[in-house]
Amino acid sequence: METVLPPGAAELLGRARRVVVFTGAGISAESGVPTFRDDLTGLWARFDAEQLATPEAFFADPELVWGWYEWRRARVRRAQPNAGHLAVAAIEDLIPGTVVITQNVDDLHERAGSRAPVHLHGSLFAPRCVTESAHPADFPTTTGEEVADDEGGRIAPPRCVRCGALVRPGVVWFGEALPGAALTAAVEAASACDVLLTIGTSGLVYPAAEIPHIAAHSGATVMQINPQPTPLDEISAVNLRGSAAQILPTLVRAAWEFAGKP
Ligand SMILES: NC(=O)c1ccc[n+]([C@@H]2O[C@H](COP(=O)([O-])OP(=O)(O)OC[C@H]3O[C@@H](n4cnc5c(N)ncnc54)[C@H](O)[C@@H]3O)[C@@H](O)[C@H]2O)c1
Ligand SMILES: [Zn+2]
Repeated sequence: METVLPPGAAELLGRARRVVVFTGAGISAESGVPTFRDDLTGLWARFDAEQLATPEAFFADPELVWGWYEWRRARVRRAQPNAGHLAVAAIEDLIPGTVVITQNVDDLHERAGSRAPVHLHGSLFAPRCVTESAHPADFPTTTGEEVADDEGGRIAPPRCVRCGALVRPGVVWFGEALPGAALTAAVEAASACDVLLTIGTSGLVYPAAEIPHIAAHSGATVMQINPQPTPLDEISAVNLRGSAAQILPTLVRAAWEFAGKP
């Protein structure tokens, strides 16, 4: 199906000097990495993400929670960036200084060529010692166990090679603070941009969801791509209802043409 852009959408992006791209799980959905709402199949079907993605869950049952992350990490490794991720990297080529802020813990922006996406919620690929905030280089990033496609299982987390404590996923769990440097970078970029493009996020997970609001309050134009209504509809001047992999390439191509760089 051909994507028809509303008048002015491509011009807004093509004319922008400072752009923030703010992404959520929806941009990775078409790479086969499910959003939280679709993420709990098989062994995980009887849980809510809110029950597994917490420090309490990890310390109560480390093998269950580590197994879930190994399963998610294995699935991300098998996935490829989609046309949406590639179009985000093309915005960075068109408008230097574009800041990509993601809530995703996958690495698909990096693999699509984005330079330095800000990971507000950490990464599946940076496990760390429960007793230390840094990630010493000598941690294993996987237990080495191959996780089957559609099943997962309990897997004991590795032990820190320095102190013997448990290694935990390097992601931000419900109830935990966001990494300070990432949050500061995100707030600064959102306060200073003239266009913020929000893609594939429900806008329900705080404080990350404040980022588009900060941009709007600072006078930026918010553009949204999402197949479903979200609370960000209210602040979005341009609302493109559809999938990221379909709409984003059309939008970015038109913005390049507008900027005279086809
Ligand atoms: N890929 C990942 O890294 C991943 C996957 C699952 C969950 N999470 C975590 O889930 C939390 C939830 O917040 P969230 O807002 O990122 O996700 P969310 O699951 O709350 O919302 C996903 C949004 O994406 C939209 N969507 C679905 N398919 C889409 C598509 N093809 N194109 C565009 N949009 C689409 C949905 O309508 C929804 O609004 C975050 O903290 C994030 O860390 C990350
Ligand atoms: Zn340690």
